[in-house]
Amino acid sequence: MSTRDRSFFRRIDIRFPWLKLVVVCFIGIIAIIDLCDLTISKIGDPYSKVRIAPMAKHLKATERIFKDKKLVALTFDDGPMPETTPRLLGILREKDVLATFFVLGKQAAAYPDVIKRAAGEYHEVASHTMYHQNLIRLSADVATSDINEAKAILKNILGHNPIYTRPPYGNINDVVRATTNTPLILWSVDSEDWRSKNPDAILATSLSEVHDGAIILMHDIYPTTVEAVPRLIDTLRQDGYEFVTISELAKLRGAKLENGAIYYNFRP
Ligand code: NI
Repeated sequence: MSTRDRSFFRRIDIRFPWLKLVVVCFIGIIAIIDLCDLTISKIGDPYSKVRIAPMAKHLKATERIFKDKKLVALTFDDGPMPETTPRLLGILREKDVLATFFVLGKQAAAYPDVIKRAAGEYHEVASHTMYHQNLIRLSADVATSDINEAKAILKNILGHNPIYTRPPYGNINDVVRATTNTPLILWSVDSEDWRSKNPDAILATSLSEVHDGAIILMHDIYPTTVEAVPRLIDTLRQDGYEFVTISELAKLRGAKLENGAIYYNFRP
């Protein structure tokens, strides 16, 4: 057979024997990128660090598992505390529940290992500012430095700026919007755990107000709250709810979060 008779691909193959290997490797790399959900567009995205690899897989899993479920986000403020927060993390792991923690910068600085554990176990950790001050009563300078101090501490521990903020008492003004420069996550269900400090009351209040897409406000600094959590999880699950982080809830409900905007819940 003369060279002229050979097919185009055969001639290419003889001329460039390494080409087949390159094509196979290229397809393999594309498949791996797709499996990990590490698309090129996500690199450089401020959210990419929390979503890379396991988190992305988790999000895919939740989309599959939680598609037609009622959804609820448990959120815990004012921690971390060295006794109660690790106990809560143990309960959440045992119940296979992910939550969102709005931590104080001063507590995070004192107990960075608790923050690292929470983030390492795929909970979301966001800012509740530095000293729990009523930001709208402060001068712009003091409010700005409070917010920025918490940001810097969380960036140091987590490796990225907090992606959400919950200002103390839910009080927001233009300085708060501009300085946080994140979506502002408030709540639609107040468990009033700080007031009752009673597991039965925390359960009753939360269950009477819960709805699909709710964000429940609790505090991981009270032993009574930690005591109420496993019962709340079991009861809500029996009622057809599943538990997601704020990012998962927003994503599953198709919400595109904007910096400076306020979110109380993500109803369907
Ligand atoms: Ni608070």
